[in-house]
Amino acid sequence: MRTQVAIVGAGPAGLMLAHLLKLGGVDSVVIERRGRDHVERRVRAGVLEHPTVELLREAGVADRLDREGMPHHGISLRFDGADHRIALTDLTGKSITVYGQQEVVKDLIAARVGAGEPLLFDVSDVVVDAAAPLVTFTDADGTPQRLECDFVAGCDGSHGVCAGRVEATVHAHDYPFAWLGVLAKAPPSHSELIYAYHDRGFALHSMRTPEITRLYLQVAPDERIEDWPDARIWDELGRRLAADGFTLATGPILEKGITTMRSVVTEPMRQDRLFLAGDAAHIVPPTGAKGMNLAIADVWVLAEALGAYFREGRTDLLDAYSDTCLRRVWRAEHFSWWMTSMLHRAPDADEFQRRLQLAQLRYVATSEAAATSLAENYVGLPLQRHG
Ligand code: FAD
Ligand code: DHB
Repeated sequence: MRTQVAIVGAGPAGLMLAHLLKLGGVDSVVIERRGRDHVERRVRAGVLEHPTVELLREAGVADRLDREGMPHHGISLRFDGADHRIALTDLTGKSITVYGQQEVVKDLIAARVGAGEPLLFDVSDVVVDAAAPLVTFTDADGTPQRLECDFVAGCDGSHGVCAGRVEATVHAHDYPFAWLGVLAKAPPSHSELIYAYHDRGFALHSMRTPEITRLYLQVAPDERIEDWPDARIWDELGRRLAADGFTLATGPILEKGITTMRSVVTEPMRQDRLFLAGDAAHIVPPTGAKGMNLAIADVWVLAEALGAYFREGRTDLLDAYSDTCLRRVWRAEHFSWWMTSMLHRAPDADEFQRRLQLAQLRYVATSEAAATSLAENYVGLPLQRHG
């Protein structure tokens, strides 16, 4: 097999890259370790930044997003038992859209399959040679395959094989907590997202549809999901989200899981003819909802650079790829770390740290300048062209 760009991984990064390349007349083959059903059902992110939504629209894959996505014009910071609204749209002129990551993935797979473009699920034994460049793997039928290409895009997430092929400096930071996430068949209890600071730990109220809520609890990193029966989860959510006049709607829990939190940046995001994008290159803690949005921003830069190479023989944009992406990545790393630090209770935190967090929360809630800073990061800074 031969193609111009071999794309490893069919998450948001790999699928969006394939779609943007196709729009630019560049051929690619996407290979994915998991099955289509698994990829389409994996519950993860839910908040799309303004630039992500604009990009999905420009790329012609936002019909269902425009019908079913839920535009949000504000979020609440809940502390001291009351809500403090950050008026995203009043402060920035922009909004975010609540639409599940797996819905974006479904839409991109449908576009790819509908166009008859190659997307191979259930592959195994993936080996990447960054210099050749070459990708070998075993296909779903058990047949060994050689995929020759001009470039490899490493879009295989944080547990993939591509990051390990890059001689890079890895900057990493661990947090002393994790998130327990649940998807519940219960209507949202509030029309907007609630980020709750509480002495018992952080909690987040989000949603997927008018009938389905998505909720998160800060837990210890070594917590086991078996120790969290549904009743305990609802009890803890009720305590942490308590506020005057607020009633938490409950219902059957459809899914639950624990995610550890890390910050990771791989520098540079390139080795020879292999380019990393999305979680393969960087991870943010989920507070602030930046991960999927960064993945989409990376592949937008990569698609432009690859397009310029194949159309005009230019290599300058490819050479600038890592630096261009890392500027946005580090901004998002800082924002995610800052939101995480402001809202979570570290196990060893003393009263001094608690007072600092409350002082920061009160400042963000009462200063238009501080609220605007949070808001412009939250809705997403404009996508930067190269340079
Ligand atoms: P992935 O989605 O991880 O996709 C990588 C793909 O590569 C996978 O399909 C995987 O199966 C495949 N793969 C792995 N290894 C191989 C291999 N060897 N060969 C072939 N294929 C392989 N982000 C936001 O923007 N907003 C949010 O609200 C948000 N909330 C989150 C909440 C939680 C609980 C979690 C866990 C994450 C959240 N994120 C959020 C982060 C977001 O989900 C990720 O940043 C996003 O999935 C990154 O996309 P990706 O395509 O880079 O990687
Ligand atoms: C969701 C996830 C986040 O990390 C976040 O900050 C807000 C919402 C969600 O899954 O809905």
